[in-house]
Amino acid sequence: MKDLEKIVALAKRRGFVFPGSEIYGGFAGTYDWGPLGTELRLNVVNEWTRAMKEHYNMAFLDSSIFTAAKVWEASGHVSGFSDPMVVCNKCHTKFRADHLLEAIGVVADEKMTEPQINILFDEYRAKLQCPSCGKKDFGKVVAKNLMATATLGKFNEEDQDVYLRAETAQGIFINYKNVLDSGFFSVPFGIAQVGKAFRNEISPRQFLFRKREFEQMEMQYFVPPKEAVAAYEEWKVERMSFYDRLGIKKEKLRWKQHENLVFYAKDAWDIQYEYPFGWNELEGVHYRGDYDLSQHQKFSGVDMTYFNEKTKERYIPHVIETSTGVDRTILMLLSDAYDEDEMNGEKRVVLKFKPKIAPVKVAVFPLLKNKPELVAKAREVFKLVRGSVDGMVMFDDNGNIGKRYRRQDEIGTPYCLTIDFDTLNDDTVTVRDRDTGKQERIKINELPEFLKNKIK
Ligand code: GAP
Repeated sequence: MKDLEKIVALAKRRGFVFPGSEIYGGFAGTYDWGPLGTELRLNVVNEWTRAMKEHYNMAFLDSSIFTAAKVWEASGHVSGFSDPMVVCNKCHTKFRADHLLEAIGVVADEKMTEPQINILFDEYRAKLQCPSCGKKDFGKVVAKNLMATATLGKFNEEDQDVYLRAETAQGIFINYKNVLDSGFFSVPFGIAQVGKAFRNEISPRQFLFRKREFEQMEMQYFVPPKEAVAAYEEWKVERMSFYDRLGIKKEKLRWKQHENLVFYAKDAWDIQYEYPFGWNELEGVHYRGDYDLSQHQKFSGVDMTYFNEKTKERYIPHVIETSTGVDRTILMLLSDAYDEDEMNGEKRVVLKFKPKIAPVKVAVFPLLKNKPELVAKAREVFKLVRGSVDGMVMFDDNGNIGKRYRRQDEIGTPYCLTIDFDTLNDDTVTVRDRDTGKQERIKINELPEFLKNKIK
């Protein structure tokens, strides 16, 4: 847990992540991306989008956050998307009953009904202590629906509340027919989407891991039923290799199969990452059969079948889903990159991001800020590098060089360039490598090519 606290503190101190509505005491389950978090998020989303675009048959979509209530009735979220909630009678804090049980080594099946989980909870009630106040006095377990509601378009009491989407996937299912009818795609094909999702999580916790407002990167692949199993295996390989592209340590990732499949799923595996608080879900790669399209066909009356002109077969395509979270990916990147080591006899905190993922690619320093000729030359180099490097370049003239290196190490900047008096004579700069501390002199006119090769 100690590492998570350090990561949270660094994320706030250096402008990656700020607690939501902080000046008003905070708003649980929300966080704001700071300047560096915004860059990091863009890098993650761009890399995911790039990976999806490598498929010739991939469509992209940006569907609405507010959707008709019927969408969520059809998907099963209105009736069945709930977590078991229990409240401490003494301090009134709300908890997930399954999480309390898990903490004492008891696993509650996800499919348990409200009466079933109450029986299990009662069996262990005497052992269960409130993590907030320490008392052993909980109420009854209730199944709490996680859908967030809003009153958009509601002007009279009798008008229905609407739902904020709980996953981006439903936006994809309800547009599957529109995408097909646009004439550019045929089964098998995928629809990919990045966007916000909202859930009334009972106890948002573990920093970016469980938020109430979060962002998903989801892809639904529509395949002929006969090809679904093979496509599922291919997507599993592809999705794990994505994390290699992000530079994540292999030994920190693993596959975990769902033991209790939800009734519509044909197979379900999660990619887990070993977060500072243990192994937990990063991404789900699930074979959902034809459940979603069939449900929307049933509720909307719209024909969701596909007719294959060549084979003359008509079917509802099966769906392979890959669903990962921007927030969990960023928490993983911060955890994976965080390191404390010693350089030149000094302790330092460093984020060892892969250069392509680092929020700042290059920092440019004039050796002294009170020497106009050095500052002018540094500005020139900054302009040149900013124009040739794909990503953020920072100009920093604050404090001595050692301090500037430490600050850049802390945010994971892979290369720092220093403009000194030699630069004025020979047009070379010092390039310092974040991981080795090694410094080499490079000609200014060779910098664009040199940095491009290092960062690609
Ligand atoms: N369409 C399938 C779906 O939504 P999920 O397992 O509920 O499945 C998919 O969510 C991914 O979304 C998770 O693997 C995780 O990365 C992210 N996610 C889910 N709930 C989250 C939350 N409360 N906070 C942050 N990320 C979340």
